[in-house]
Amino acid sequence: MKESYEWIVTAESEADTVRLAEALAELAGPGTVLALDGDLGAGKTRFSKAFAAAIGVPGVVNSPTFTIIKEYQGTELPLYHMDVYRLSEQEADELGLDDYFFGEGVTIVEWASLIDALLPPDRLQLYIAHLGGEARRITLTGIGMPYAAWCRQLQARDGSK
Ligand SMILES: Nc1ncnc2c1ncn2[C@@H]1O[C@H](COP(=O)(O)OP(=O)(O)OP(=O)(O)O)[C@@H](O)[C@H]1O
Ligand SMILES: [Mg+2]
Repeated sequence: MKESYEWIVTAESEADTVRLAEALAELAGPGTVLALDGDLGAGKTRFSKAFAAAIGVPGVVNSPTFTIIKEYQGTELPLYHMDVYRLSEQEADELGLDDYFFGEGVTIVEWASLIDALLPPDRLQLYIAHLGGEARRITLTGIGMPYAAWCRQLQARDGSK
């Protein structure tokens, strides 16, 4: 059985979401896959912007809703930022996403659950839900390694604050 680990954290503010993205950027490397889901306007793109900044992507990272996939070069790593909201699974399949998932950079997929069957088995899933105001409940599920270990590690670090 593949190891998986779930950690549920409350981001009290936008700054907390930014800090979570920064912590994950520290752990990320080539082939890291972050699968984002959650309420409309919950903060998937905001998280992605913070992650991009943390790996040294210069300039502005916008929502890729219309472009589907945007590639950026960070100082640390390339970033492949996708939003599959408007795609059918078949259209997504035709994009050859494995070249991104198993490429040199980090892939962030917004609305990832819509293309569940195309995602690599090992990934970090983040589900962002509104709690009211700036508060968000962020459920991280690390599936396979190293993602399960990341979740355990982040939870341990959070608990020791
Ligand atoms: N704790 C928080 N985490 C993330 N974003 C927050 C938070 N609090 C407030 N915000 C604000 O919520 C908005 C989130 O919008 P964003 O475009 O990131 O959502 P999204 O999940 O990508 O939406 P969509 O479903 O349209 O793709 C931003 O305007 C951001 O400033
Ligand atoms: Mg978005």
